[in-house]
Amino acid sequence: MERRTVLKIVGLGLGGALVAGGGGLGVYYAAARRDTVGKVDFATPLRIPPLAEPTTGTPGAVRFALDVQAGRTQLKAGAPTRTWGVNGTYLAPTIRARRGQAVELAVHNGLEEATSLHWHGMHLPAAMDGGPHQPVAAGGTWTPRWTVDQRAATLWYHPHVHGSTADHTYRGLTGMFIVDDPVGEGAEALNLPATYGVDDVPMIVQDRAFDGDNQFVERLPLAGSLGVIGDEILVNGTLGPFFDVTTRLVRLRLLNASNARLYHFGFSDARRFALVGTDGGLLAEPWETDRLHLSPGERAEIVVEFAPGETVDLRSYPSPDLGGTSGRLDGFADRLDICRFRAAGDLADETVLPATLGEAPDLDGVAATAERSFVLASDQINGRSMAMDRIDFGVRVGTVEVWEVINDNGYVHNFHVHDVQFQVLTVDGAVPPPHLRGWKDTVLLVPGSRYRLAMRFSDHTDPNVPYMYHCHLLQHEDDGMMGQFVVLDEGQDIGAVPGGHDHT
Ligand code: C2O
Ligand code: CU
Ligand code: CU
Repeated sequence: MERRTVLKIVGLGLGGALVAGGGGLGVYYAAARRDTVGKVDFATPLRIPPLAEPTTGTPGAVRFALDVQAGRTQLKAGAPTRTWGVNGTYLAPTIRARRGQAVELAVHNGLEEATSLHWHGMHLPAAMDGGPHQPVAAGGTWTPRWTVDQRAATLWYHPHVHGSTADHTYRGLTGMFIVDDPVGEGAEALNLPATYGVDDVPMIVQDRAFDGDNQFVERLPLAGSLGVIGDEILVNGTLGPFFDVTTRLVRLRLLNASNARLYHFGFSDARRFALVGTDGGLLAEPWETDRLHLSPGERAEIVVEFAPGETVDLRSYPSPDLGGTSGRLDGFADRLDICRFRAAGDLADETVLPATLGEAPDLDGVAATAERSFVLASDQINGRSMAMDRIDFGVRVGTVEVWEVINDNGYVHNFHVHDVQFQVLTVDGAVPPPHLRGWKDTVLLVPGSRYRLAMRFSDHTDPNVPYMYHCHLLQHEDDGMMGQFVVLDEGQDIGAVPGGHDHT
């Protein structure tokens, strides 16, 4: 144990000095605080994921071809890293579609094993969701179609094969899916920064551990509770990125695409920034802050103001109060450099931050048809592990439900629901903090916490094909901290999952 621990420390690049300093978990614990501030050479321009080029599909639909492939990517100096990507060798193109638009995605799997692509945050029929029941076989093509029917929002996509979501995602199958809303709430009506890659910047934030040969280290740490935690940060696949700012206001679409790491975002000069959107769309009004937590799967749209000629770094700061019993090993004490922003001497100044943005969620006070309780502990929800052929419950179409979610564990979890965006009604019985007052599909659950979430199931009934709810710490999900529900019509009963349990 001791020897493997030491090897692990060396493998993480935490320094040979520790080996000389002695062994044992005490040293591992002391070493577990990572601090990369001032050590990252911000020498590479931030890569901007290309926009997926639409083609014409089924009449009336816009079609995107997504080719999942394995390859090698030059992520750092020296040997290239074995990675997976979509239409490239690492990460995936940004898909953009408008509310009301019919979309069709041709997902071709060029890997040697089955995988899937799930549209995280999307409201759509369960059979199109890309979850564990829609695997795409090696060499196969899967073509889901649906009509985009939700607010402007920053969504994303990633694999969701049961038992392998963590590994498949870690290798690089991750992209953004931006929903635009030409008429209602949305940037176009509001004059928010909206030029992709210029003043509206996607930021897919991932931590990775590399071995001495520049390959991703996928194996789980000996200690720690969340899964693999890396010590190097990639943004859009760029290590040590800088971004050249050309406008006074810049919108950043932050996505925590890490398997396990929590980020506590802030800037090196402690400047304030405005949170304008959460998982499901714009907030009712901007909220000013200097720090923001994002757990795996969560997104935030923030607007940052820059002055001509300045340089400032985006970092992740420690959040020691959140980590529970193994917080330090799980990265909660870490301080990490993420991206440098370099403002030009002259900044264009055409956008303004509106005082009001979207509509506040309105489910508080709506009579709930059902209340359910979900207790997360020991890689299970309500004492049960995910089973492919077990539908845990059915919800009735047209109703609002309140789900109480409880972390009854010493470890950090979060909670994600497919198909819907929910409103956080209360956190430990109190009114939620400002960053949880917009539409959400994933929430952080620190140990001992209790959230009440309200959600409406408006359509897309299917008694046989379930949606998932789960912890989005991917190792926990793979280990079984997940369940399944169906949306039922009036008078309908829960059916049976097609194909039974043969996908596992
Ligand atoms: Cu981001 Cu069930 O997934
Ligand atoms: Cu999802
Ligand atoms: Cu968890």
